[in-house]
Amino acid sequence: SLPSKVKIVEVGARDGLQNESTPVSVDVKISLIEKLADAGLPVVEAASFVSPKWVPQMAGSVDVFKGIKQKANVNYPGLVPNIRGLESALESGVKEIAVFAAASESFTQKNINCSIEESINRYTEVIEKALENDLKVRGYVSCTLGCPYEGEIASEKVAEVSKRLSDLGCYEISLGDTIGTGTPIKAKQMIETVAKHIPMPQLAAHFHDTYGQALANLFAVLQLGVSTIDSSVSGLGGCPYAKGATGNVATEDVIYMLNGMGIETGVDLDKLLEAGRFISDQLGRKPNSNVGLARYV
Ligand code: HMG
Ligand code: MG
Repeated sequence: SLPSKVKIVEVGARDGLQNESTPVSVDVKISLIEKLADAGLPVVEAASFVSPKWVPQMAGSVDVFKGIKQKANVNYPGLVPNIRGLESALESGVKEIAVFAAASESFTQKNINCSIEESINRYTEVIEKALENDLKVRGYVSCTLGCPYEGEIASEKVAEVSKRLSDLGCYEISLGDTIGTGTPIKAKQMIETVAKHIPMPQLAAHFHDTYGQALANLFAVLQLGVSTIDSSVSGLGGCPYAKGATGNVATEDVIYMLNGMGIETGVDLDKLLEAGRFISDQLGRKPNSNVGLARYV
């Protein structure tokens, strides 16, 4: 049955902007994050403490994080790939980090330059230190419905990597359809397989919309009881290590769908549309959500 409430994790300022070729200043990022929080989003991913050689778009993350006027009931997580990243996160004053693994060996190599096993070893230390510092830790698993290098990925592999992150102390596991190749029945089967090992309330759906399947896939997994959805304002983004991957499903479209089904999110669609309009103007284009375009004048 469908959940009555859904938690939206807004990833546009990170997953979105990490893949935009137009440079976006620290001040614009701060404004975007503040507008998203003002729109009622409970979680606004705000930073990525990765190597600037690998992802130059996220280089100003410490300044972005320090510059945000934080709201009391909003989480502002930042991505952390290694101990070096955790140090930057702690310096910035984050309260929540996200580590990111994948169910594909090749994607892991391209994305973080190590094997799945090495990544779990790295994250073991990162998570331990983060928990010692009273940070919450979220875990991402990429390529859950396909890999740009290996094609099909077994759901059992997704479940195995998810379980390992969960056992290390991640309070939530976000399952990424990194390249948006998934379709509804497959999305359902993948979630069902992972949910044999991790309780449903700890799972999040992080679907990219490359093939236009994301809303259909979300509707499918909502029916299983998934109640956390990652999405990106104005459909920003992609992944620098997954060629051709377009943005996450647009937050505006997710909110419109959930509103229509009477599912609560606490998000003000009009304010969200303004945030989408703001960042689209900065990038010199029209909003890249269906709702944003329908309301565009
Ligand atoms: P490496 O080259 O193997 O690591 O990269 P290294 O330790 O040899 O470091 C290389 C250089 O980077 C060194 O600088 C380090 O100091 C520096 P140099 O000595 O050459 O001057 N460095 C750092 N600088 C700042 N912060 C750090 C850091 N670490 C090293 N934390 C590494 C390994 C993991 C660092 C690199 O591969 C990396 O940063 N990868 C991140 C890739 C990334 O951000 N991908 C996108 C996020 S994942 C995603 O989008 C998917 C998701 O949305 C879910 C989904 O859709 O599926 C989450
Ligand atoms: Mg992503």
